[in-house]
Amino acid sequence: MIALACDHSALEMKKEIKSLLDEMGETYRDFGTDTAESCDYPVFGARAAKAVASGECEKGIVICGTGIGISLAANKVKGIRCALCSEPYSAELTRRHNDANMLALGARVIGPELAKMIVKTFLSTPFEGGRHQRRIDLIHAIEEGNDIE
Ligand code: RB5
Repeated sequence: MIALACDHSALEMKKEIKSLLDEMGETYRDFGTDTAESCDYPVFGARAAKAVASGECEKGIVICGTGIGISLAANKVKGIRCALCSEPYSAELTRRHNDANMLALGARVIGPELAKMIVKTFLSTPFEGGRHQRRIDLIHAIEEGNDIE
């Protein structure tokens, strides 16, 4: 199950991503927004992020105008590693090395076809583990307020 969320600037792109997920046979839960009325992206980013952090959803995809605001909001939820990607290379590497559990996209930055390539790459690339796990553990130690040096 994929958690989806966006703000008013990204309704159309979220629709495109839903069609792609349907084609891929992926299930999803849409945490809003559902209208073109101006809204606050942290509200929707946090809803999707909490669903991923709780285990209700395996991964999340969040979209705002730049992808920046909603990724910042998602990353404030403990356990979330949300990567803003504008091309497939970063999407692949953030799965392989960072085990990113959420992807952020900028609807005003990239077009729908590129966004779909990024989503496909993100969802199909496994985490490599090994030395990368140690680094993720360090990120979570920071999150817990622990000294990592
Ligand atoms: C909304 O106008 C815009 O600020 C938002 O979509 C996003 O780009 C914020 O980071």
